[in-house]
Amino acid sequence: MHNPYKGRQQTFSTQGPRVETIACLFERPFVKPQTAFAMFSLIQVLSLILAMATTSLASPGPYLRRSPTATVVQARDFTNAERFSRGLPPLAPRVLYNPTRVRRSLPSSSPTIVSNVGVFNKATGASVGYVRGATVTTAESSSTTFAFRSPSSASDLVELNDNSSGLHYVLASYTNGYYVGPGTYNSLILTTTTLSTPAGSGQQPDYTKGPIQYSESPIWSIDPSTGVVTAYWVNSNGSQYQVYFLSYVTTVGTSSTTSLIFTGDVAAYKVQFPTRIFTEVTLVVSV
Ligand SMILES: *[C@@H]1O[C@H](CO)[C@@H](O)[C@H](O)[C@H]1NC(C)=O
Ligand SMILES: *[C@@H]1O[C@H](CO)[C@@H](O)[C@H](O)[C@H]1NC(C)=O
Repeated sequence: MHNPYKGRQQTFSTQGPRVETIACLFERPFVKPQTAFAMFSLIQVLSLILAMATTSLASPGPYLRRSPTATVVQARDFTNAERFSRGLPPLAPRVLYNPTRVRRSLPSSSPTIVSNVGVFNKATGASVGYVRGATVTTAESSSTTFAFRSPSSASDLVELNDNSSGLHYVLASYTNGYYVGPGTYNSLILTTTTLSTPAGSGQQPDYTKGPIQYSESPIWSIDPSTGVVTAYWVNSNGSQYQVYFLSYVTTVGTSSTTSLIFTGDVAAYKVQFPTRIFTEVTLVVSV
């Protein structure tokens, strides 16, 4: 079974390459009130945040994390010229993806959805590229085309398949009983296989791989109303935790590769590799 991505995602951990890109991880647009008019705007913003927070609480996805960014919406109401004349700072850079603002519904009519998956900087919303196996490509034409069963809700976990080969994209480790979740920097590999594992089960041995991998396949949430892709890992003691996605750029000679990293605790992972620069990313199907 040919798998072009097998093993690639782990090259970063052995080569210790230089990091060339600097990412501003937690920069957020912020409206600084300077005039009475701005104070009025701020009150509007706060009302909007409150309204959005209330909406989120009223319709919680069981696992979904939402980050209200109502200030961005409010900031768009004026052009830069208008903002300068009111003593406000200029607009923040254009946000390319924001799950609370962009409603990108999946086509509900088709039982199977075929799409590539966009990668966005979680903090800024800026596009990073498209998923290509366990890496990120900026060329949409070389991105992976996925196929998956149309999910009924964000808590309906599905398998994510390669559209051309039918292989399942699974998260896996080389050890059984591998814990992923809060309090550990443990991370998983993304790989393709013929093995399907039962819904809700922990790791299953995959004997098609050498060395043997222990994987889980129906772990992907694709929110039908936003297209946001999330993964959930079941531990051997039955606990289930969200898997977070980081991108990491490695440069060898003149060629750079952006890898995806899958961990249950972003802060712990960053502490473990303090000299590396990671960008937390959001994955969104592009249909
Ligand atoms: C997905 O796979 C089907 C079946 O092989 C094929 O007909 C279709 O063209 C593929 N779609 C894309 C976008 O690659
Ligand atoms: C499972 O194990 C982890 C790590 O030891 C622990 O933090 C968690 O509370 C356990 N969960 C259950 C349901 O036993």
